[in-house]
Amino acid sequence: MRLILKIYITVVVGTAVFLYQYVFKQLHIPVPITLNGEHDQLETIAQQIAQSGLGNTRCKRICFDSSSNSDLPPLYIITPTYRRAEQIAELTRLAHTLMLVPNVYWLVIEDASKRTPFVTQLLEDAGIRYEHLLAPMPDEYKNKKSMPKGVSNRNKGLSWIRSHATEGVLYFADDDNTYDLDIFCQMRFTKRVSMWPVGLITKLGVSSPVVKNGVFSGFYDGWIAGRKFPVDMAGFAVSVRFLLQRPNASMPFRAGYEEDGFLRSLHPFEPNEIELLASNCSKILVWHTQTKKNQPSQPLDVVKYGSTNIAILKQLLV
Ligand code: UGA
Ligand code: MN
Repeated sequence: MRLILKIYITVVVGTAVFLYQYVFKQLHIPVPITLNGEHDQLETIAQQIAQSGLGNTRCKRICFDSSSNSDLPPLYIITPTYRRAEQIAELTRLAHTLMLVPNVYWLVIEDASKRTPFVTQLLEDAGIRYEHLLAPMPDEYKNKKSMPKGVSNRNKGLSWIRSHATEGVLYFADDDNTYDLDIFCQMRFTKRVSMWPVGLITKLGVSSPVVKNGVFSGFYDGWIAGRKFPVDMAGFAVSVRFLLQRPNASMPFRAGYEEDGFLRSLHPFEPNEIELLASNCSKILVWHTQTKKNQPSQPLDVVKYGSTNIAILKQLLV
């Protein structure tokens, strides 16, 4: 009788384990996750997300429905920006995206010698933790045919992180891209360097790691140009701890080679070590939108409008 009971229990438990591993996982039926704020539990969740191709639903629940958001690893978002007619429009869009992301530090770094008051106001109004820093482009690079755009800004952001952060993840978010909230969820558990596709870029339309049978097998990008990491700035995130272990990592003032130069400076690190996100790079969660450049607006007729609201509005537009 005892033997029969043993066999019965073994069969039932075995079937349950089989069902969990091979059926539920294949079907991607979400397994409920409860967060109690423990870091080792976050590590486990991170591994689950990294391993499963379709971690989005689970990721969203962890990042947005959790009551213990402050236990999530912080995200340091480095945004270079500069004064132009579109600046406030671009930053408004990005601010309203980041307002939906928990535990975020927004490092907004102007390519300017003075802080733009409208930018300060926008940051205050967004209610996000922020730093409003300045990093003008060195004169020698200005007005060159191909300028290294946003490099002094990003290096300033990196040095801020080196002196203020100990954990979490950093991401270079240019002010003119379009971001799906999922990407902020997924990058949050980056262990070293994670990557994903960027849409609307180069003649190929998309830039992405190539994934074959679930494994990294190269890069798809319209401009390889001898780069070891032919990727866009919007297509990768780096763990803060990993950065801190590489005290010399920085971005070079070399137009077109900023991403490659920075990623190479994280050595030792090889392309086959990249953590592949966005469902094994099969989704586009970031778009290199590039806003249409507007002409500077015509000077204001101050006699007619100098003492009206139009005088205030015009200042926003440069
Ligand atoms: C592409 C890449 O997406 C950038 O990450 C890269 O820095 C750039 O090329 C490059 O190789 O120079 P693209 O759309 O051509 O970007 O450049 P922008 O969006 O005009 O500039 C990138 C970032 O730098 C933006 O956040 C922008 O606000 C800032 N920027 C641009 C400055 O801070 N100063 C400038 O004079 C121009
Ligand atoms: Mn851009």
